[in-house]
Amino acid sequence: MINVALPKGRLGEKVYAMFERAGYECPSIKENNRKLIFENADKGIRYFWVKPSDVSIYVERGAADIGVCGKDILLEYSPDVYELLDLNLGKCRMAVAAKRDFYDDNQKTLKVATKFVNIARGFYASKCRDIDIIKLNGSIEIAPILGLSDVIVDIVETGTTLKENNLEVVETIVPISARLVANKASFKFKTEEIEKIVESIREQVENND
Ligand code: PRP
Repeated sequence: MINVALPKGRLGEKVYAMFERAGYECPSIKENNRKLIFENADKGIRYFWVKPSDVSIYVERGAADIGVCGKDILLEYSPDVYELLDLNLGKCRMAVAAKRDFYDDNQKTLKVATKFVNIARGFYASKCRDIDIIKLNGSIEIAPILGLSDVIVDIVETGTTLKENNLEVVETIVPISARLVANKASFKFKTEEIEKIVESIREQVENND
């Protein structure tokens, strides 16, 4: 049995469709209910819907053999997992954003609001810039508007959230997309099954390019 942690939401549905095309369908997953675990014993596959930011925790600890999570989570938390494949889905970027009239005074410590503390620290350390991190859990875009921070480090997809809050991208830190990851022990002991899934999904990704 291969246990797969899927990120709940639109991305997860696209990812499930790839597994389905790879021959690992589980029709009960499409029933409209609030169940979170679905299994197709004949195909030897079990799916769970988990919060996107929790996928790497399930995989790292072996509760899931494989899973799909954003590169943002891999960069921020450095989970001890194998990153097997870029799915080319859920594409966005990690960026620094600020109010339109923002001027960066290098003499002052920069106040940075973010959920992605490690990514932000790493980025500014590489520029030798002193920062003061303000860790928030959501609605990060409000911070510069209320003067809580000078800039934010956050995910930008369409740019709509920034635009509607009169903010703009100052700098892109790194492009982000969804990655297929595997538990290290599972990859060792279930290599053949996991490789089979990865190869089929890799072909789909390449054909979509
Ligand atoms: C992310 C991010 C931005 C938004 C950017 O939030 O924090 O708020 O998406 O998308 P856009 O550029 O298309 O407007 P998300 O919806 O993932 O939820 P969160 O607030 O929990 O981070």
